[in-house]
Amino acid sequence: MCGIVGFTGKRQAAPVLLDGLSKLEYRGYDSAGIAVRLGDKDTEIIKEKGKLKKLADKTDNGNAVKGCCGIGHTRWATHGEPSALNAHPHASDDENVIAVHNGIIENYQELKGKLVKSGYEFKSQTDTEVAVKLVDYYYKKYNGGPVDAIARAMYRIRGSYALCVMFKDYAGEIYTARKDSPMIIGIADGETYVASDVPAILKYTRNVYYIGNMEIARLEKGKVTFYNIDREEIIKELTEIKWDAESAEKGGYEHFMMKEIHEQSKVIKGTINSVVTNGKVHFDSVNLTDEEMQQIQQIYIVACGSAYHVGVAAQYVIEELTSLQVRVELASEFRYRKMKLSKNSLVIVISQSGETADTLAALREAKEQGVKTLAIVNVVGSSIAREADNVFYTLAGPEISVATTKAYSTQLIAGYLLALQFAKARNEIEEKRYKTLLAEINTIPEKVEKILQDKERIQWFANKLINIKDAFFIGRGIDYAIGMEGSLKLKEISYIHSEAYAAGELKHGPISLIEDGTIVISVVTQENLTEKTISNMVEVKSRGAHLMAVTTAGNYFIEDTAEFVSYVPKIDQLFAGSLSVVPLQLLGYYVSIGKGFDVDKPRNLAKSVTVE
Ligand code: G6P
Repeated sequence: MCGIVGFTGKRQAAPVLLDGLSKLEYRGYDSAGIAVRLGDKDTEIIKEKGKLKKLADKTDNGNAVKGCCGIGHTRWATHGEPSALNAHPHASDDENVIAVHNGIIENYQELKGKLVKSGYEFKSQTDTEVAVKLVDYYYKKYNGGPVDAIARAMYRIRGSYALCVMFKDYAGEIYTARKDSPMIIGIADGETYVASDVPAILKYTRNVYYIGNMEIARLEKGKVTFYNIDREEIIKELTEIKWDAESAEKGGYEHFMMKEIHEQSKVIKGTINSVVTNGKVHFDSVNLTDEEMQQIQQIYIVACGSAYHVGVAAQYVIEELTSLQVRVELASEFRYRKMKLSKNSLVIVISQSGETADTLAALREAKEQGVKTLAIVNVVGSSIAREADNVFYTLAGPEISVATTKAYSTQLIAGYLLALQFAKARNEIEEKRYKTLLAEINTIPEKVEKILQDKERIQWFANKLINIKDAFFIGRGIDYAIGMEGSLKLKEISYIHSEAYAAGELKHGPISLIEDGTIVISVVTQENLTEKTISNMVEVKSRGAHLMAVTTAGNYFIEDTAEFVSYVPKIDQLFAGSLSVVPLQLLGYYVSIGKGFDVDKPRNLAKSVTVE
């Protein structure tokens, strides 16, 4: 959470910082600030409450601030309300140390107590100010320079952090350190960039270094030096980022979310092609052998948010195609459960960012128990990608909108391909069915594209939902999993209370909430469950509900029950979720913009949740 950008080079820093922060605003947007070195000693710090635009207006897009080295931050508040005072950068009283920070310093109260005893005063309620003053304290006490001071602070700090620090005595230099919070460093033509996420610097360079946990880096113009926590210099390899810069821009769309919905077809195809050649799935890049897949008996899928919903859908597919037992767990629960994982199990973590704190912790717990792990991840080089035993990269490209669409869709594809390959490796599927299912998966991109042609009708229906207070999503089996995602989409961007229920559970409570005009959206793509779900639709309709249905082309009889129906092309029902989710993404989008909300930056949310 929160976005960090730093720059030192030949150009003016402030415009680079603001431009980079604008690409990271999805990480937090309740306040923002920059600090730019004006010369040898002085630094200008400017902070504003609210979205980045206020800071950009105040500084004439950065042009009003002169200096070639600086750091910037866009905040998602954890400690202390959103305000200019609590916004980063924070500085020691004499501005000897100035820093921005992502993450949470768990023992900040204890550290603050120690610093207060040493004469430090605190202006903000943030844990970051504590980190800044701790670094300042060690810098002055031991006189060992920036790396030494930061390393000493790192010994004491518990929690997660990505820090960018400037020291008064070191003009033109930025120091950075991290633990469990992402940070990358980019280099190009005598200039050096640092950011918490790739899109911030993609426009300037694709050559990056990944700074590891508990490591420190010293950034000079066009140069980086890395140190471990014992202050020993370490050597790192430069990596080239494959994402192109345009993929992090809106490209003519009004919002990132709509652009990303439209990109789904392309990125699904890319993800399929990354492991499918000549009509076969090849898992060489995932590094999972047939023998390993034969030995595994139990799968745990662990994730948060939409990625968890992918897990729920994938569970049905894996269980249908194989004899494997599958459990899907919320990472935030899994990590604190005392589960004894059997040795022949596989823990699959799913994460777009690869940085979600709970998912990362769940992965570590699994590894601690000696269980094999596989990550389905989008961001190359992210913490989860680096720590998992095996990685299946989704090729969604940068996803900027907080509400996920294309990353979700590529994760689903990864789930299908894993299910199929497990079935094949374990001899649990006939060759003919294997081929048919793979061919079906290959039709998903064009079918997704087709659904987008229906978007005007969905917009028309969405406009009728603008004033509703509640919505219910129902479905059975895979349709239930997709309903969960549809419900989350609507809720998170339009602020309408929404719940997803397994249709069979309606009678156990939620039906008492149905009254005249309540909106119920049902997903009906699973043939063997269609009649049962329709019965549930009729039950709520007879109690006054207004019904929307998402179903497969051909099921025209649903119009007898539902007031509005969105049809998706025919496909093997195992993969219908990839299609039925699209009208629900569009529905959420159109309700949100119909209500005049900032669909890409819903209130209180952040794209990547790097704190518990
Ligand atoms: C946030 C995002 C969701 C995402 C979830 C898990 O809540 O807004 O879109 O599903 O985090 O994130 P991850 O990066 O682990 O997929």
